[in-house]
Amino acid sequence: MSTAKKQYKRITTKTLVDMKNRGEKISMLTAYDYTMAKIVDGAGIDVILVGDSASNVMAGHETTLPITLDQMIYHATSVIRAVNRSLVVVDIPFGSYQSDPKEALRSAIRIMKESGGHAVKVEGGKEIKDSVKRILNAGIPVMGHLGLTPQSIYKFGTYTVRAKEDAEAEALIQDALLLEKAGCFAIVLEKVPAKLAKEVAQSLTIPVIGIGAGNDVDGQVLVTHDMLGMTHEFNPRFLRRYLDMYQEMTTAFKNYSTDVKSGDFPNDTEQY
Ligand code: KIV
Repeated sequence: MSTAKKQYKRITTKTLVDMKNRGEKISMLTAYDYTMAKIVDGAGIDVILVGDSASNVMAGHETTLPITLDQMIYHATSVIRAVNRSLVVVDIPFGSYQSDPKEALRSAIRIMKESGGHAVKVEGGKEIKDSVKRILNAGIPVMGHLGLTPQSIYKFGTYTVRAKEDAEAEALIQDALLLEKAGCFAIVLEKVPAKLAKEVAQSLTIPVIGIGAGNDVDGQVLVTHDMLGMTHEFNPRFLRRYLDMYQEMTTAFKNYSTDVKSGDFPNDTEQY
């Protein structure tokens, strides 16, 4: 029997553009740790996002703002150790790329060098254009993120649907075109009307990955803990729950506690 490690055909940024051209949808989920990433990668999900939603999901912060570059690198490093096939995209956290392009490049380089991630993601359009170009010039692939951009939540003041008005929708289309022209390999479009998302996806040659952006885009992303039903206080319309892990886990923990307290666990076969 061969002992050679199974070879996987890795997903690259080019694979994603090819998928869009073939009309094949792209699947993307978040992961922040080794164990989850191993399952997500093994299930054949195309892109793993080490999202700054780790700030909410892993650390319990109200927003994505507090997570640091060091913490993102820690999460990304754990994910990369698990992955054989998926493209791993890492969010550059709030405050690590907005102030000037040199800082943006330094942050992106740290992520790529220290975690081994395959690409970075940034939020925003024309206001971060120079930073995006600087990172791309260094050969680092960049994914854009438009629509509801959680790092700007204090500017928006609410997590409701973005770009419902014509002026904001037009600005979003211009930002999407600008990011494509700058060289981004894909764009996440969060919580915008499906009609607008369709128009953006049709206007661009790079893939548009939606979250709360309808079905006429090139792929979908969800936060894994949400789609597994581990979180249960977050219930946006766009979220489809594939499991009720909150309930499953609560039942398992209660059963364990009952077994420990009754002396049922461990039994004769569960000891040495
Ligand atoms: O941080 C994140 O999880 C994200 C997704 C919601 C797209 O940016």
